[in-house]
Order: sequence, then C-alpha cells, then structure tokens
Amino acid sequence: MISASVPSLFRKESSIMKPVISDAIVYIGVSDHTIDLFENQYPVPNGMAYNSYVILDDHVAVMDTADVRVSEAWRENLSAALGDRTPDYLIVSHMEPDHCANIAWLAEQCPDMKIVGNVRTFPMLKQFFGQDYKDRAVLVKDGDILSLGTHTLQFFTAPMVHWPEVMVTYEQSEKVLFSADAFGKFGALDVEEDWTCEARRYYFNIVGKYGIQVQALLKKAAPLSIQTICPLHGPILKENLGFYLEKYQTWSSYQPEEEGVFIAYASIHGHTKEAALLLESLLKEAGAPHVSIADLSRADIAECVEDAFRYSHLVLCSSSYDGGIFPPMEDFLHHLQAKAFQNRKVALVENGSWAPSAGRGMKAILDTMKDLTICPDIVTIRSALSPESEEGLRNLSKELLAL
Ligand code: FEO
Repeated sequence: MISASVPSLFRKESSIMKPVISDAIVYIGVSDHTIDLFENQYPVPNGMAYNSYVILDDHVAVMDTADVRVSEAWRENLSAALGDRTPDYLIVSHMEPDHCANIAWLAEQCPDMKIVGNVRTFPMLKQFFGQDYKDRAVLVKDGDILSLGTHTLQFFTAPMVHWPEVMVTYEQSEKVLFSADAFGKFGALDVEEDWTCEARRYYFNIVGKYGIQVQALLKKAAPLSIQTICPLHGPILKENLGFYLEKYQTWSSYQPEEEGVFIAYASIHGHTKEAALLLESLLKEAGAPHVSIADLSRADIAECVEDAFRYSHLVLCSSSYDGGIFPPMEDFLHHLQAKAFQNRKVALVENGSWAPSAGRGMKAILDTMKDLTICPDIVTIRSALSPESEEGLRNLSKELLAL
C-alpha cells in the first residue's frame, strides 16, 4: 500500500473520471478542468485528461504517471487501485512532464519497483530527476516482452511520436495498445464532445511535424490484433478502431481529409477582411464543397493550423506591414512551417496602400514547404476593394478550384 499524501504545493482542484477497461486493467488518470492552456500554448476550453493505468496480475505494473497539476488526485486513484499491493513495475512510455511528473515520488514510495524504459528514457530521467535509477532499470528494446502473469507486455519504440524516447506497449492477453500520445485528444473525459475535432487539433499541433514517424508506428502496430486503445490523453477507444486508425493514416501521410477551402485572413482595418468575405461567397458560388474562414488576429491559431491541414485548399489574405507581412499572418505561416505543412493547393491575396509586400513575403515562406501548388496570380488590393480587384478575386476563386 502506498500513501496518497501530496505536498500542498501540488494541490489543485480537479475532477476524476474513471473509465472501465477490464477487471485487471484499471484507469487511474485524472481529468483537469483548472487548466487553460495545454503546454502553455493550446487553449483547452474543455480541460485535459492525463491518463494512466494499473495492470493487476501476479506482478503489478503502473503505466505512466501524470502531470504535477493533478498529483493529488492521481496518487489517490493509484492508491485505490493498488489496495494493499505495491507496484512491481513502472512502465515509462513518455518522459514529457505531463506524464512523468510523479515518477520520482513513486520511485521513492516503492523502492523495490523496477522502472521500464528504453535507451532514451533513462538519460531523461536523470535530466528531470537527477538520477537515472540504474539499479532498478529494466532496459527494453523494440519487441521485448515482459510477463506480469496472465498479462504479457510487448514494447515498441515510437521515436518522435512525440519525443524521442516514446514507446507504446501492447498487452497481448486483452489485446490492449497503450499508445502514449498517439490517438490522444484535448479535453477532459467527463465532457462529451466529438472525438475527431479535438483529436485533429491535438494531432496537428502536437505531432503534426512527425508524420513519417507516425507512419512508422502505424506499420509496427499493423500486425497486432488490437481491441482497445489506451492513450495518454482523451477517451479509451474500444469500438470502431478502424475509424481512428484511418484518421491517423490520413493525417500522418499529409493527405487532405476533406475537399474544401480554408480562408485565413489578417486584416488591419477591415478591407482585407472584406476581400476574404467576398472570396468566401465567390468560392461557394464557384462550387467549393466546403469553405471555412478565420480571422488570424482573433482565432485560436491551433484551430487554424488544424483547418489548414484538414482541407485540400488554403487561401491566405493579408495586409502588408512594415515592408512585409501583417504579423498575425506571418505568425500563422511560421506555425504551418513548424508543423511541416505540405501537399495542399494555395492562393494568395495581398493588400497594400503604397507598396504591397505581403504577397511576396507569404510566397517566400510557402516556398520553404513541400509539395504546395500555388496559384501563380496573387490578387493585389490597393487599400480597398475595387471593380478590378473584385474581378481578380472572381478569377482566383475559379483558378484555385481548378488546380
Ligand atoms: Fe502528453 Fe507529449 O505528452
């Protein structure tokens, strides 16, 4: 038995939601509604879940810990799941602090507990906690197996999904994949919401850059017979697993999920916004199957990144500024660049009252990205819409859809 006591420093209000996996595999994660920004950058209006699990067998394994924000609730859940038993193993799938924060505490509470990780896990333990637990390390590599009794764990490294030390664990008897950050989403577990929307926003902003590595993980997982996916965030997935695997296949291969246009605009005084709104109606008239539009000065940039990846076509409309691009657009383009945005059809609209510069600037950033088809004609607005620039937008809408 371990004590769930926690320093008052770590006490945070949080709600607890306990999905049922099986008699032997117990959920001990925590849903956190006190958080506003995940990773201190992504808005999470519906909170965040830090998932963690205990497997009770002849030997007991704890599957990851949880964020410092929810230490108290996680320790209580762990204590309740363990009863009078103590963990024999801690499996460390991921060393990011939203999962590793309680490792040192647990190691101290359970001096006989072994810590299971790969060659990249232990140096990070030393970095975060000042020691690498060499005396109780179980070093595993791809395909290695650990028997807990009737449950058997098999480990598969998944480097860069999302950090280099990430590994996933397949439990053979119940066919459960503990998938680390993969198949996760934003949002607490006690909020009902569509999986795809917040899983997509999570995917492209957290691991969007690492499509090749996600593809490699999907290949490793393909021969496994999986009945349940237990991610480190978001709901436990038990039904229709093909749906989630197909989404990951599409997202990680940088294929658009839907035919449609995302218009992102950055407008100083509203004239560029007017052009974007006109283009929205022209694209609908021209038969675009779906048109979505966002004001980059106000929208959640993570959601804009999501929409840019979601649709087949992207239009960027920006004011010129200081001889370059209006900063909200420049910032958005740098986000797309960082997430390896690629393989989309793009059109550009610029506005400038004396020396339009946004088009050239946007094109220069887009030219660093892979497999973009960019409309050769940039529509230039001089201060406000005119019959000529309206005609330019009309032509652009047709040109873009014909790409
Ligand atoms: Fe949920 Fe990459 O940590």
